[in-house]
Amino acid sequence: LVADSLFVINNFARNYFTDQLWNSEEGQNIALSYLEERGFAKEVMEKFQLGYSPQSRTAFITQARTQQFTPELLLKTGLVVNRNDELLDNYRGRIIFPIHNNTGKIIGFGARVIGKAEKAPKYINTPENELYVKSKILYGSYFARQSIDKNDECLLVEGYTDVISLHQAGIENVVASGGTSLTIDQLRLIKKYTNNLTIIYDGDAAGIKAALRGLDMALEEGLDVKLVLIPDKEDPDSYVRKVGAAEFREFVKAYKKDFILFQLEVMLKDAGNDVSKRSAVVNHVAETLSKINKAEDFTKQQEYIRQCSGILRVDETGFTTLVNKYK
Ligand code: GTP
Ligand code: MN
Ligand code: MN
Ligand code: MN
Ligand code: MN
Repeated sequence: LVADSLFVINNFARNYFTDQLWNSEEGQNIALSYLEERGFAKEVMEKFQLGYSPQSRTAFITQARTQQFTPELLLKTGLVVNRNDELLDNYRGRIIFPIHNNTGKIIGFGARVIGKAEKAPKYINTPENELYVKSKILYGSYFARQSIDKNDECLLVEGYTDVISLHQAGIENVVASGGTSLTIDQLRLIKKYTNNLTIIYDGDAAGIKAALRGLDMALEEGLDVKLVLIPDKEDPDSYVRKVGAAEFREFVKAYKKDFILFQLEVMLKDAGNDVSKRSAVVNHVAETLSKINKAEDFTKQQEYIRQCSGILRVDETGFTTLVNKYK
């Protein structure tokens, strides 16, 4: 099967890249030193099987040629690209983040430039193939499962480095969406593990917008969604490094907001005293609340209706009717 062959190649590549990071002079000088400078501990770098792809255009492909991999399959993995009928390494000079499925096998890679991304994209990822289906990937889920069970909560962050840094800080119930907006498949995966989703995004406008986009879908899946916004210019990785593990935990605990009430707050602030904008907010919130439609969530919906109609200063009975209209 194609999928089996892709697993074999990815496994080979993972071993090659980790060996390059830890045992080659180039890897140590360029990649390991960069990762150490950022503050990553050996322990988590090993756990997440970080690697390094050398700068040479043919370093990996030369090794891969000693195996029985077909060019077609190699191209499918995205590890190599075709340039004028020549196979060349795709992730040259990049840090490698292997992406694991729930049994710990490698389904693909993220590859980051070292230092600032100037011309090239900061990350390159595996192209869609039989194993790598972007909309279904939650980076870190293999390492998070036990902790999600134990805490009955899943933390969601944006990036690879956020997941790894939080592990280093002892917070292991964390997965990453990979910077795109959440998909229904990702939410369904989370729902299999827990009902409690806490989104931890940066507090800039883009972060807030990205978070809000997933809300209605998450409610429809029956998830309880909380939100933590990381202060200015930081992400979970940089913030936990700045304030330390203990303070990070305290921050998450203290600033965890109910997502529905947060959305209401953001929209009301936006609307100001404009009557028609405020009425649009009332409608929007009613629609959102209508998504909480599972029988077991009835009391939850009632409670939201009570709180939201209070905040919006509208009649509770009328508001209930409006919510039901959207069902
Ligand atoms: P660091 O800069 O190393 O700390 O990574 P980061 O995770 O903080 O990066 P950022 O916040 O910019 O992006 C969050 C996530 O979005 C990354 O972890 C990637 O999964 C994804 N991403 C970021 N930049 C790119 C890009 O240029 N291409 C692609 N395909 N994905 C990206
Ligand atoms: Mn970004
Ligand atoms: Mn951002
Ligand atoms: Mn980030
Ligand atoms: Mn970052």
